Amino acid sequence: MPRERLSVVVTRRLPEAVETRLSELFNVRLRDDDTPMTRTELVEAVKEADILVPTLTDSIDAGLLGQAGERLKLIANYGAGVDHIDVATARQRGILVSNTPGVLTDDTADMTMALILAVTRRIPEGLAVMQKGDWAGWAPTALLGGRIGGRRLGILGMGRIGQAVARRARAFGMQVHYHNRRRLRPEVEDELEATYWDSLDQMIARMDVITVNCPSTPSTFHLMNARRLKLMKPTGVIVNTSRGEVIDENALTRMIRAGEIAGAGLDVYEHGTQVNPRLRQLPNVVLLPHMGSATLEGRIEMGEKVIINIKTFEDGHRPPDQVVP
Ligand code: DGY
Repeated sequence: MPRERLSVVVTRRLPEAVETRLSELFNVRLRDDDTPMTRTELVEAVKEADILVPTLTDSIDAGLLGQAGERLKLIANYGAGVDHIDVATARQRGILVSNTPGVLTDDTADMTMALILAVTRRIPEGLAVMQKGDWAGWAPTALLGGRIGGRRLGILGMGRIGQAVARRARAFGMQVHYHNRRRLRPEVEDELEATYWDSLDQMIARMDVITVNCPSTPSTFHLMNARRLKLMKPTGVIVNTSRGEVIDENALTRMIRAGEIAGAGLDVYEHGTQVNPRLRQLPNVVLLPHMGSATLEGRIEMGEKVIINIKTFEDGHRPPDQVVP
């Protein structure tokens, strides 16, 4: 007898190639419009699905999981970060969670370097001059930034993305330092030419640029709080392509306005789309709308990972990218 096909519900529009492949392979319900599901729609989705494919804009919290149907058995997240999913509660309810690690590493690391360069070389200010038609020609003193070669880069979180940033930063001639829960193996440290700091505070105080590349967890919430931000050099720059909650955004805004930190490049925000309006007014702050991993190639590879996770689960095995709490 043919096996009953599992029902897959996808919460957001995905690139066309991914949606086409999902439709060919699974009994899938795709989203019609390009907006996040409302809470009511999410509740319906977890009641009807065997497998849910959410994204970081869906809050898969204990309340929602409490309303899930008996049949929900896998949450195959389209994305690497799972801070929007209560993985522990899912586990208690016998629901597996998987994600899409690895395929957005290089794109996010590229964007980290782009932000470092945008802030230190004042690229948005130059762009604004051209867009306004204000350029009066080359001048020896115009828009002088700082050279990144030789500067000390402190990487906060040395997982896949942190390491990819380290490789790129070395190629730009930066000196790479890092802080991580666990120290890397000596051969990896050697390959990356990276110096480990056990003390985050001491590392922060000595860096020219800090990049946040750790995930958002209860223990990284406001890791860069007001006290630590104050340890930064006044000439220091901070960049975040990870999750907004790691930095106390209000404290950062205050300190940049007061000239205690030289600049920031942010792709993610503490309160999602509710970006502190004062940040938007600062010329030495470069803000992007969470596009660190936004390449077509990356998005398609994320879809391929989701498909492999679902197929493996359908075949009765644990998904290769299972996330454990
Ligand atoms: C992720 O997958 O968690 C990324 O933040 C998306 O850009």
